Amino acid sequence: MTPPEPCLGGTCPPAMVSVSELPMVVAVSAGLGLLVAAAGVWAMGRLRTRSIGVMLAVVVVVAVAATLAGVVAITMKMIIEGAVKDFVLSVVAVGGLVGLGVAFVLARRVVGESRRLVAAVRDVPFRAPLGLPAELQEIASTLEEAYARERALEGARRELVAWVSHDLRTPLAGLRAMAEALEDGVVADPATVARYHGQIKLEVERLSAMVDDLFELSRIHAGALRLSRARIGLADLVADTLAGAEPLARAKGVVLTAEATGAVPVEADAAALGRALRNLVVNAIRHTPSERAVVLRAGVDEQGMACVSVADGCGGIPEEDLPRVFEVAFRGEAARTPTADGGAGLGLAIAQGIVEAHDGMIGVVNEGPGCRFEIRLPLVSGS
Ligand SMILES: Nc1ncnc2c1ncn2[C@@H]1O[C@H](COP(=O)(O)OP(=O)(O)OP(=O)(O)O)[C@@H](O)[C@H]1O
Ligand SMILES: [Mg+2]
Repeated sequence: MTPPEPCLGGTCPPAMVSVSELPMVVAVSAGLGLLVAAAGVWAMGRLRTRSIGVMLAVVVVVAVAATLAGVVAITMKMIIEGAVKDFVLSVVAVGGLVGLGVAFVLARRVVGESRRLVAAVRDVPFRAPLGLPAELQEIASTLEEAYARERALEGARRELVAWVSHDLRTPLAGLRAMAEALEDGVVADPATVARYHGQIKLEVERLSAMVDDLFELSRIHAGALRLSRARIGLADLVADTLAGAEPLARAKGVVLTAEATGAVPVEADAAALGRALRNLVVNAIRHTPSERAVVLRAGVDEQGMACVSVADGCGGIPEEDLPRVFEVAFRGEAARTPTADGGAGLGLAIAQGIVEAHDGMIGVVNEGPGCRFEIRLPLVSGS
């Protein structure tokens, strides 16, 4: 048998703690702990806009106060007495001080790191600082991505304004020269006058189409595209688009065909989606040499999505251009001299905006003699 431990400081507690008193001790500590916790939560509510350091200090104070309150209540019940009581209170007090010290160090670090993040955000361009605590690091990385996206968009917008003003200036200068020549009577022979009139009409139509596209794109970017959705069949949309593009294909000598498996019902704005599909088909015809084929297909893909695709014989889009074709004002060729049938690089950006407003996806792959643009939309359930 082990001999009994000597009493600390020579003073023994008058009564030993008996097991029957345990529920009372737990109840008193829990009750006081709850009171202190409630006071802590109230204090945190009042201080919620203050520094994280203040919050951490409140957490430690609450923990220490709850422990102290329990200990004080028990000592007052005379369960422990004399030197033991002093020891327990001192240990709790020292623990509390250590906790406060650690909280202070931690708070300084958190405050320091958040100041480092704020300073980095003020720098242009913003680069996420490394070595931050996990949550701050996540905020920094998210901010970096958002800033990079914003910068890319801003760059694209600036590029668009520069290119559009260039694209407007060239035909406008031509229109002005032709109008002045007609006005001054410099051209008088009926054949040239008729040619100038035809040319003026063509240029005005092209400029109007470009202004329409810019207007549509700005509505898409502003989130102001209003869709009036109804249940339509992709097969019908393909048939209508084919009929509309047939004259253009014939003029270019391109063979335009369509295949549809079933009606393929979707919930869509027929006019908007028709515009997106027309943009794909016009591109396909424009980039396919004569005698080659452009094929429109409507069906349901392996994932059960409604799918409409336009496959052409353009010879393939350079791999490095594939991810960029949907960018505003991207036109592929290095020289940006407007050609008779060249566009402003807006058609695919508009198509993408319309498809995404329908909760769909648009993509492109090189395939066979050319490339295949594909629109996927949610299939109407119950079909
Ligand atoms: N079917 C295609 N085959 C090959 N290249 C294509 C095809 N569709 C688009 N592209 C490339 O992507 C670029 C962007 O196409 P987009 O439709 O946005 O503009 P655009 O046709 O040049 O002008 P816009 O549509 O405004 O009249 C084109 O200039 C072309 O380089
Ligand atoms: Mg186009």
